[in-house]
Amino acid sequence: MTFHRGDEGRPQTSGLDDILKGRRMRRLRRADWSRRLVRETTLTVDDLIWPVFVVDGENVRVDVPSMPGVQRLSIDLAAAQAEEAARLGIPAIAIFPYTDPDLRDTMGSEAVNEQNLVCRATRAMKAAAPEVGLITDVALDPFTSHGHDGVLAGEEILNDETVAQMCRAALVQAAAGSDVIAPSDMMDGRVGAIRRALDGAGYHHVQIMSYTAKYASAFYGPFRDAVGTNKTLRGDKRTYQMDFGNIDEAVREAELDLNEGADSIMVKPGMPYLDVIRRLKDTFAVPTFAYQVSGEYAMIKAAAANGWIDGERAMWESLAAFKRAGADGVLTYFAPFIARQMKARG
Ligand code: PBG
Repeated sequence: MTFHRGDEGRPQTSGLDDILKGRRMRRLRRADWSRRLVRETTLTVDDLIWPVFVVDGENVRVDVPSMPGVQRLSIDLAAAQAEEAARLGIPAIAIFPYTDPDLRDTMGSEAVNEQNLVCRATRAMKAAAPEVGLITDVALDPFTSHGHDGVLAGEEILNDETVAQMCRAALVQAAAGSDVIAPSDMMDGRVGAIRRALDGAGYHHVQIMSYTAKYASAFYGPFRDAVGTNKTLRGDKRTYQMDFGNIDEAVREAELDLNEGADSIMVKPGMPYLDVIRRLKDTFAVPTFAYQVSGEYAMIKAAAANGWIDGERAMWESLAAFKRAGADGVLTYFAPFIARQMKARG
């Protein structure tokens, strides 16, 4: 028999049976054991990259108000945190510095100082936990007085001058023991230039994880609090970061980065851009990472603090979504929290 509109309210058991002909999707969902057996994607500790904010001083731990549960740590505490990453089995940490405002200038000169905060943190964390991969961001914004990712001339971010400065920054980071250079600036040609600079200095083994499709986004706000660029940033980053309406452009960015020698690519922010992750993964079939950025973390934490959503479940669900979309791993501020839960579950 056919199922007519308007019949919904009436008992239709025999009619429904006829329609379903044994195709009952809910059968597989009935029990936990069955749901576990048929789950298509799973999240493990091997998927996590833990972003860490470092600050000068000793035994310093400063809350980032817009990121509950996240703190800026002095190097001694960051080294202890690297040990914790090792204990939890988290494969890698991404390091971001809160640079003393007095050290920031228009060129981002501190970025190329081999004794800068990132380099000192890298050395200390490597010594504390050699088995944990260290990813260092290469962009000038934590070091510039204007908060932009590049060298500024008037209103213009100079591309090639910025790339040259980033190559020098990448070299001091590699010398400090960084395993992965992650350019997060969106200048043109930076991946190839950094690859040549690294190879020229004998750092053939140092990877490049490119922030390939990085969008000019409102979701970076809390991060800019954490690294202290929110107050100083003049204007926005739309002349170098991508427009949120675009996805073909992400394919062209990825093609360039891979041709220039990127070992892995990244999409950022994460959750609003799952389609971009899927498209890049399907197109290039290379290691593809997602960055669940500060604003995404803050939204989940804020809604949970208000009792509007279940924060724990939202954490798991939001991170699993990246795997489902095709990501190989996720940079997430939830990394230690979810890794502890994973460990407790065994
Ligand atoms: C710096 C950089 C940013 C983030 C990572 N590296 C901010 C920006 O581009 O303004 C954002 C990360 C986050 O929001 O969690 N180039």
